[in-house]
Amino acid sequence: MPESIKHIPVLANEVVQFLLPALKNDGIFVDGTVGGAGHIVALATGILNSKFKMLNKFEFIGIDKDLTAIEMAKKNLKSITGKNIKIELIKGDYGEIVLILRRLKIEKVNAILLDLGASSMQFDDGNRGFSLNKTAKLDMRFDTTSNLTAYDVVNKYNEKHLMEIIYKYGEERFGKKIANAIVNNRPIETTTELAELIEKCIPPRFRKGKIHPATQTFQAIRIEVNHELESLQQFLNSFDQILAGNGRVAIISFHSLEDKMVKDKFRELELTGKYKILTDSSITPTAEEINANIRSRSAKMRVIEKIV
Ligand SMILES: C[S@@+](CC[C@H](N)C(=O)[O-])C[C@H]1O[C@@H](n2cnc3c(N)ncnc32)[C@H](O)[C@@H]1O
Repeated sequence: MPESIKHIPVLANEVVQFLLPALKNDGIFVDGTVGGAGHIVALATGILNSKFKMLNKFEFIGIDKDLTAIEMAKKNLKSITGKNIKIELIKGDYGEIVLILRRLKIEKVNAILLDLGASSMQFDDGNRGFSLNKTAKLDMRFDTTSNLTAYDVVNKYNEKHLMEIIYKYGEERFGKKIANAIVNNRPIETTTELAELIEKCIPPRFRKGKIHPATQTFQAIRIEVNHELESLQQFLNSFDQILAGNGRVAIISFHSLEDKMVKDKFRELELTGKYKILTDSSITPTAEEINANIRSRSAKMRVIEKIV
């Protein structure tokens, strides 16, 4: 992967603003989607600049399914190692957070962040098959040791299954036409081959400005390949077991299905009386942030606090 590719952390100031208060007393923070560690660096900088920095010892745990991301995070975290922050990076699925922490012999944590989806490093790495502009084998796996690839989804799923995925995960109105075109043009080997085929299925008047007409279908395939909604559901159903009192969870999503899952679960938890939602409506990037980082445009962050 080229050294120069950087992922700009989305809503970084807002993440620090919402999570820092949860780290005042005991400071264990889990970043379940560590990527290039942009949010960890932002949070660590927030701590090092704050008045409670000398009083406590902090422990940061970064999880990612992608070993390349872990390597990148290691490099990017050099600037904050050696301070009073212990950092542990783990290859794993944040959906298994309870198990991961049990293995580390950690019972409770004070703050958790999920920044869902793929990173700029993954999109921009020509070999990973995430980008529709770079010719690569159809892959799209976060975890390159897992079995299911985009090639399998595109070339082996039946038409109905493909159509359902494209409709549901891609929210793509031309799902039926696209699924039919895919099935009739197999085998499809590369990202650009697939992107060109999809482009032909979408009438020009339905194309959205600069956004490539295959974007939503690529997103759908990526979500399927990585079981993204399953990991999120597993996390939402289990984080209560490992979140300490006054602990906070922040989730940044880029997809309406994910945001709805988070919103519904947070509401359900609030109704138990054990939690308080801190973001009445979701937090979104400012126009300034979107200008500086176009990938932030569809981000929505929700934060909840455990009160007992
Ligand atoms: C948007 S990026 C995170 C970027 C990071 N916050 C930063 O600022 O550098 C999402 C990362 O989450 C990882 N990821 C996605 N699903 C995951 C899962 N279920 N478990 C662990 N990591 C996951 C991806 O591999 C990717 O590196």
